[in-house]
Amino acid sequence: MHFRTRAIHVGQDRDPQTGAVVPPIHVASTFVQPGAGEWGQFDYSRSGNPTRKSFETTLASLEGGYGALAFASGMAATHCVTMLLNAGEHVVAGADIYGGTYRLLHKICNRSGIAVSLVDTTDLKALKAAIRPETKLLWLESPGNPLMSISDLAACAQIGHEHGLLVGVDNTFATPVLTRPLELGLDIVMHSATKYIGGHSDVLGGALVVGTKELYDRLYFVQNATGGVMGPFESFLASRGLKTLELRVREQSRTALQLAEWLVADRRVKRVLYPGLPNHPGHAIAKRQMSGGFGAMLSFETTGGFDVTKRVCESTQLFQLAVSLGAVESLIEQPASMSHASYDRAARLEHGITDELIRLSVGLEAFEDLRDDLDQALMKAGL
Ligand SMILES: Cc1ncc(COP(=O)(O)O)c(C=O)c1O
Repeated sequence: MHFRTRAIHVGQDRDPQTGAVVPPIHVASTFVQPGAGEWGQFDYSRSGNPTRKSFETTLASLEGGYGALAFASGMAATHCVTMLLNAGEHVVAGADIYGGTYRLLHKICNRSGIAVSLVDTTDLKALKAAIRPETKLLWLESPGNPLMSISDLAACAQIGHEHGLLVGVDNTFATPVLTRPLELGLDIVMHSATKYIGGHSDVLGGALVVGTKELYDRLYFVQNATGGVMGPFESFLASRGLKTLELRVREQSRTALQLAEWLVADRRVKRVLYPGLPNHPGHAIAKRQMSGGFGAMLSFETTGGFDVTKRVCESTQLFQLAVSLGAVESLIEQPASMSHASYDRAARLEHGITDELIRLSVGLEAFEDLRDDLDQALMKAGL
C-alpha cells in the first residue's frame, strides 16, 4: 500500500464490537487478566494501551520500522534513548540541534557521567575525529534546527556503525513523508509528535521508531521502567494527525519554497537558509535524501540587529509569535531569544545562530497572504 493509504488504514482497524470506523479511545488504566499470573494482550496502561498501540503501529509502518514507542513528549523520547547509556560513555551530537536536546545532553545527561561533543555533522571528517573509544551514540538532526543544515544520513550512519555506535536521528522536521532514515541505515528515528504528526498545535507527544526487535525491547524496557508514555487522548490525536500528514507536509513544503524564493530576492534579507534553494550547501544531499519536498521550515537573517529582528517577529499578523512548529498555522520566532535561548551565548554564536536569525514554520495558509504579512512586518520594523 502507498504511504497515504497506510497512514489511514494500518493500525486503525474498525471497532469489532460496534463497527465504528474510528477506533475508540481506550482510557482504562488497567485491564482484567485471564487468570492470576496470566497476562492478556494489555495489563496496565504504562506498559501498553490499545489506543497508543494503534498510533505506534501506524507510525512504525510509515517509517518502515519494526516497531514504535510513543512518549509524553519529544524530549521524553530522546531522553529514553540517552538512558541506554552508562556513566563514562560519550555522545556525539550534531551542532545544529533543537535547544531542548542541547539542554538535555549538557545539563541532565552530564549529571549521570555521560559526556557529549557537538560536531558539525555535515563535515564527515570532523564527525570521525569526534568519535572516541567510549562513544556509544551518534545523534543527528536533518534538517538541523534552526540553521537547516543537511547531514548525509546514510554516510553518517556508515561512519557510526564502523565505530560500533547506535545512530539516531530527530526526524521531526522532515517527517517520514520526506525522509525515512531507517531505510538509509540508521537505527533509531525520533519525533516530536507535537509538530507535524499532530499538525494542529493541540497535542504534546513524542515517538521512537526502530528497525529491530532487539533495540525495540531495550527501549521498551527503559520506557516502561521510567514511565514517560503518551496518554490515550494524545494517542488518538496523533493517529488522526497521521492520516493527513502527507497532504499537509507536501503542501506546506511547496509554500515554504515559494517564500524562500521571495525572501532571497528581498534586499532587507541578508541570507536565507532553506535546503530547497540551489545555493544551500546541503541542497544536493537534500535532493537525494528528501523525496518530493524540502520541508516547511526555513530561516533567514535580516539586515537589522537583534532589536530590529525582534521587532520583525513581533510585527507579523498571520505568522504567530510562538515556539514550536509543524502545524497548520504559520509561526515565527527569533531563535536567539526563544527556541535556542538555552544555548550559552558564545556557543550559540559559534554555531551560527545569530541575533538576526528568524525561523519560520510555514503553515497551510496561502503563499500570497504569508508573503504580504512578512513584507509589512519587515517594513514596520524599519527595514
Ligand atoms: C526538532 C525538535 N525536536 C524535539 C523537540 C522536543 O519535542 P517536545 O516539545 O514534544 O518535547 C522539538 C520541540 O520543539 C523540536 O523542534
